[in-house]
Amino acid sequence: MAEGTRGALPGARVVVAVTGSVAAYKAAALVSMLVQQGTQVDVLLSAGGRRFITETTFRSLTDGVVAWDSFDQAAGRHPHLQVAASADLMAVVPASANTIARLANGTADSLVALTALSLRAPLLIAPAMEATMWQHPATQRNVATLRSDGVYIAGPASGRHASGATGPGRLVGNDELLGHIRMILGREGDLAGRRVVVTAGGTREPVDAVRTLGNRSSGKMGNALARAARDRGAVVTLVSTAEPLADDAGMQQRRVATAAEMLREVSAAAEGADMLLMAAAVADFAPRTTVAGKLHRSEGVSAISLEANPDIVATIAGASDGRRPAVVVAFAAETEDLVSRAQDKLQRKGVDLVAANLVSDGPGAFGSDNGQLTIVSRDRQPEPLPLQSKEQAAHVLLDRATALL
Ligand code: CTP
Repeated sequence: MAEGTRGALPGARVVVAVTGSVAAYKAAALVSMLVQQGTQVDVLLSAGGRRFITETTFRSLTDGVVAWDSFDQAAGRHPHLQVAASADLMAVVPASANTIARLANGTADSLVALTALSLRAPLLIAPAMEATMWQHPATQRNVATLRSDGVYIAGPASGRHASGATGPGRLVGNDELLGHIRMILGREGDLAGRRVVVTAGGTREPVDAVRTLGNRSSGKMGNALARAARDRGAVVTLVSTAEPLADDAGMQQRRVATAAEMLREVSAAAEGADMLLMAAAVADFAPRTTVAGKLHRSEGVSAISLEANPDIVATIAGASDGRRPAVVVAFAAETEDLVSRAQDKLQRKGVDLVAANLVSDGPGAFGSDNGQLTIVSRDRQPEPLPLQSKEQAAHVLLDRATALL
């Protein structure tokens, strides 16, 4: 596949089955998001689903099959067989209590049920119903049956329902669903069975109760790496100072603020991991003491006394055999002398690769969605990558890191 169209979604064929819930309208946005990622999408509607949303909406969004009637010859001679045979994944979004009961019992009385029975690809369901229906022993029994059949279950979330009641049973958000879809599609990728630790964001060291010493790292590169590794089959631990990801299926997220907290979480996660990708910008120094309350202007602060933070990536890269991940990658955000500084970091920190980028104003500036990395390794010439999205750059860096496993 060409660099730039990588990840789990482009080129995959996904069946979205829409069943009877008021949340059915959200499936339209999901179909649109998938199509925009280059995914081929077929849509099946149950009779209940058609009470909430029509096929016209989906026909406007996808070139794929849109069908609801198993005897509708316009959708092919055997629509359920054709749709099931070409699918890489079937996602029932939203999955009503009725459809869950049908799928758990293997009935063949609707196009959705027939297709699920014919399917050899993975099945994902995203339940959506009132809390009372979700909590009913019959629904719980059906979901347990599906889970033991190997069906993936996304959610449900808790919160306010259309009826005004609150509780479990809400359809999970589309970002979260995309995470599940990407994880399932990527489950047999080149990092399947591997554990990858990624750090993201910039650490913040407290000065007093309101102020911190920080940096301008956005966390986008680390987030892109975590998603890319997950999409290639890895189980990912993301240690981050940034906002938690909603599309975190296949990941464990650990939220931290300071370098000391990051060291603790990374050390724990790196035990038994195959790869550490240290994309976070870690403060080199922290205030020696944190003022308990707020420092006031009238008190005047002439200096803040600092002490050195531990070098996290050097600590992990220097760990004894068996405790060091096979591949450790550091980053170098520089304003000048990119390659020589990256080579120095490679040696000084004992890592296997350094991904270096210039962070002066321009295309690779902090917070940008794009970046231009240069990959520095022990035995190859420095490899300048083109300016590309951080997602694309993440995949190329993972190619190089995976080759060292
Ligand atoms: N790093 C780390 N722990 C630190 C500082 C940095 O793990 N206390 C990691 C970063 O996550 C990054 C790499 O080391 O992967 C390079 O960070 P950088 O701040 O550029 O390295 P320094 O050794 O601090 O070098 P400089 O003199 O350029 O600040």
